[in-house]
Amino acid sequence: MSKIYGEVDNRVKALDDVSFSIKQGEIVLIVGSSGSGKSTLLNMIGLLDQPTSGKIFIDGTNTTTLDDDKISSFRNKKLGFIFQFSNLLSDLSVLENVLLPIQISGTSKITEKDAIELLKVVGLEDQMYKRANKISGGQAQRVAIARGLINNPSIVLADEPTGNLDSVTSATIVQLMKSMAKKLNQTFIIVTHDRQHFGDVDRVITIKDGKAFEGDLPSEMEITV
Ligand SMILES: Nc1ncnc2c1ncn2[C@@H]1O[C@H](COP(=O)(O)OP(=O)(O)OP(=O)(O)O)[C@@H](O)[C@H]1O
Ligand SMILES: [Mg+2]
Repeated sequence: MSKIYGEVDNRVKALDDVSFSIKQGEIVLIVGSSGSGKSTLLNMIGLLDQPTSGKIFIDGTNTTTLDDDKISSFRNKKLGFIFQFSNLLSDLSVLENVLLPIQISGTSKITEKDAIELLKVVGLEDQMYKRANKISGGQAQRVAIARGLINNPSIVLADEPTGNLDSVTSATIVQLMKSMAKKLNQTFIIVTHDRQHFGDVDRVITIKDGKAFEGDLPSEMEITV
């Protein structure tokens, strides 16, 4: 697929004929320098924006042909999102924040009990009735992970999930995401500048000038940000 932003005189080719497939349960890191096209790629896979050309298949569905209603329900059912800033609603409790996607999608299959289970997994069961503005940045990011997983998505998309955290907290969040991916057999596609913290992962895709390459960059092309 390709993605071009802007009009004729200010066109930016953010993704240039990118093509790959990802297996269920894989942890995939998307790395590359600032402006290379990582977030654009994640936004396309997350159906938050549409490619200019090309197709995206998720679980066998060609998502590029879905109408807006179908895209919303597909996103609610299949995809979970974790961003750099946890974006919690500060007036709500930790537990209420985790339950938000369920309220938006209106599904009754997932309950408060499931949210409490997830909060246990991320180590926050003793914080769940606290207001979201009364917890630390690392705790907030763990809440965001629980919220991203509450609809039991087949694919979790994370854009710089540790970008706003100190290195000790980042390491904890990385380990948490890796162990959850394996436990739940969910696919994690993670954009990160924090390559070394992730250690061994199933796959690394490097984006350079809108093109995708398999694996880490050779060291002479190492990225500094
Ligand atoms: N909405 C937009 N309109 C126009 N150009 C855009 C838009 N979003 C991104 N771009 C451009 O597309 C290119 C890729 O941007 P993108 O946000 O995907 O980079 P990135 O790899 O996520 O960078 P960073 O590491 O800084 O977050 C950049 O040249 C950027 O300026
Ligand atoms: Mg980005």
